[in-house]
Amino acid sequence: MRHIPVLLNEVVTALALRPGENVIDCTLGDAGHAEKILEKTAPGGKLLGIDADPESLLRAKQFLYAYGERVIYVRENFSHLKDIVDREKFDPVNAILLDLGWSSPQFEERGRGFSFLKPEEPLDMRYTVSGEMKTAADLLAQETEADLEKIFREYGEEKFSTEIAHAIVTERQAAPFQAVAQLIEVILEVYRKRLHSEKEVPWIGGVHPATKVFQALRIAVNDELGVVRSVLPQAVDVLASGGRLAVITFHSLEDRIVKHFFKSQEQISIRVITKKAVQCSPEEYEANPRARSAKLRVIEKL
Ligand SMILES: C[S@@+](CC[C@H](N)C(=O)[O-])C[C@H]1O[C@@H](n2cnc3c(N)ncnc32)[C@H](O)[C@@H]1O
Repeated sequence: MRHIPVLLNEVVTALALRPGENVIDCTLGDAGHAEKILEKTAPGGKLLGIDADPESLLRAKQFLYAYGERVIYVRENFSHLKDIVDREKFDPVNAILLDLGWSSPQFEERGRGFSFLKPEEPLDMRYTVSGEMKTAADLLAQETEADLEKIFREYGEEKFSTEIAHAIVTERQAAPFQAVAQLIEVILEVYRKRLHSEKEVPWIGGVHPATKVFQALRIAVNDELGVVRSVLPQAVDVLASGGRLAVITFHSLEDRIVKHFFKSQEQISIRVITKKAVQCSPEEYEANPRARSAKLRVIEKL
């Protein structure tokens, strides 16, 4: 399975790419956006492709094999963008893309417990397997009840965050959380109690009751909001004058950070190209339901 790039034409049009331009793809993934960017910047434009996940980078190299030395690959967190650009002497930078979140193969094939639909998987949730990062199981074992409640409330906007945090702290005394199924059972039990339901808890508006807690843990494990806050000023900094930055987000917490940052810099260092976030067409949603929550915002450096 190859990840389907979202808002592909919208991104490429908004970046206004010309032959010979240099572009940074901070979230290379399965290189769908990168491939189109390389077509637009042919024959001489270079692409600096960054991804923190070694498996993603390996896959991207296969997909982009034909572009040879026009592509430079870097396995690193994009929160080090400025250092990467300096080290690689990548200059000038005419455009930058951030397509935040995870690719479909990461969710579905890596066995890292991203999905509540895979009950047997371990509660890992790291993009990249690094010894320094805590897994979701580590957080569930080590965080205080108050901190867990805060994670579920702030990163998941989970309405039963207090009850779920309490249930986890009680449960972990009997057995540490290891597999996805254990966490789902605790969440469902809280929902059953709160909704006074003896039976299976229904999906609410098409959304599984565990969705928000899973989103919250993933954000906390990977410091997803912290890295977005850190990369945006660096991206504006490394862009050449007239260069463009496009950011695709998949949930409101990230989109809020992008929107506020752009607003704070408007007329100081940037011009906002997308007054309203661009969203997918009904046709794209039909073909790729994952595009439903995608929002694209684009700026140009003054
Ligand atoms: C949504 S996918 C990108 C898909 C890509 N645009 C395509 O067309 O296939 C996001 C990618 O960014 C990577 N990623 C997420 N957070 C990252 C970070 N902080 N630093 C570097 N890479 C990151 C993930 O490993 C994943 O491969």
